[in-house]
Amino acid sequence: MNIMVMGTGKVAESLLMRISESSCVNLFVSGRNEERLTYLSKKFHTHITYPQNFLQIPLDLVFLAVNDDVISEKAKFFFDCSAVVCHLSGAAPLNSIPEKLKHRAVFYPLQTFARPQGVNWDEIPVFTQFSSERSKLILEHFSKIIRVNTYPTSDEERIKIHLCAVWINNFTRLIHLKAKMLCQEWKLNFTYFLPLILETHTIISETVEDLPLTGPAARGDFKTLQNHFECLDSNPEDLELYKILSQYIYRLTKDKSVKS
Ligand SMILES: NC(=O)c1ccc[n+]([C@@H]2O[C@H](COP(=O)([O-])OP(=O)(O)OC[C@H]3O[C@@H](n4cnc5c(N)ncnc54)[C@H](OP(=O)(O)O)[C@@H]3O)[C@@H](O)[C@H]2O)c1
Repeated sequence: MNIMVMGTGKVAESLLMRISESSCVNLFVSGRNEERLTYLSKKFHTHITYPQNFLQIPLDLVFLAVNDDVISEKAKFFFDCSAVVCHLSGAAPLNSIPEKLKHRAVFYPLQTFARPQGVNWDEIPVFTQFSSERSKLILEHFSKIIRVNTYPTSDEERIKIHLCAVWINNFTRLIHLKAKMLCQEWKLNFTYFLPLILETHTIISETVEDLPLTGPAARGDFKTLQNHFECLDSNPEDLELYKILSQYIYRLTKDKSVKS
C-alpha cells in the first residue's frame, strides 16, 4: 500500500511509528514544518513529499493528521486523486472531508497522544466510518496490516465518545494541574502526591464497574468541607469550582444511598 500521513504533530508521529513497523507499506509524509519532516522521515524511513508531487504518487490511503479546523482545507489537495482520504478526529464529522471526494473515511483512535511514542496501538479502540465500499475495504485492510481493533461508529456517536474522553483525560489533567498550582502557591512539595496519583489511577482502572466516590463530600463531612472552603477564600473561581464539584459528589452519593 502507498500511504501518506499529512501533518507532523503528535498523532502523525505515533501513526507513522506504527505503520513503519509493517514491511508491506510505502510510507510518505507531508507537512509545513521542515524540521519535523526531516526528523520523522529519518526516524521512520518515510519519503517526504510536497503538494505539487501528490498526484505523481499512486496513493491508496491519506491520513489528514492536522488540526480539526483545517481538515476540509487540506482534503482539497486530493480532489484529483483516487486515494481514500481519512481524518483522525473524534469530533469532526465525516463530511468535514468535502463530498467531492468520493472515498472518505474516519479513523479515530481513542487515546491521548501527549507521548506519541509511548502509545500502545494494540490496546486502543479505533472508531471508523466510511463513505463508500472502497473506503471500507481499504481502511479495513490497513487496520489488519497495522493490527488495530476497529469499531464502526457514526458522527452522532463519535462526538459523544470524544466528549467522554475529554472528561476522562483533559478534565482529569486540569484537576491535577490545579492541585499543582495550589502546591506552588502554598509552598508544598507536589512530589508528595505522586503515590496518591498512581493509586488513584490504579483504583479507577480496577473498579470500572461502579467507580465508587470517596472523600469529605461523599462522606458528608461538612465541617471539613467548610475548612476547605476557607482555604480557598482568596480565590473565588477555585472556590466556586470546588463547591460545584463537592455538591455534585454529595448529590451522586446521596442518590446512590437512596437507591440501595
Ligand atoms: N492529540 C490527541 O490526543 C488526539 C487523539 C485522537 C485524535 N486526535 C486528532 O488527530 C488530529 C491531529 O491532532 P494532533 O494531536 O496530532 O495535533 P498536533 O500535534 O497539534 O499537530 C497538528 C498538525 O497539524 C498541522 N497544522 C495545523 N494547522 C495547519 C495548517 N493551517 N496548515 C497546515 N498544517 C497545519 C500542524 O503543523 P505545525 O506543527 O506546523 O503547526 C501539525 O503538523 C486531530 O484531528 C485530532 O483531533 C488527536
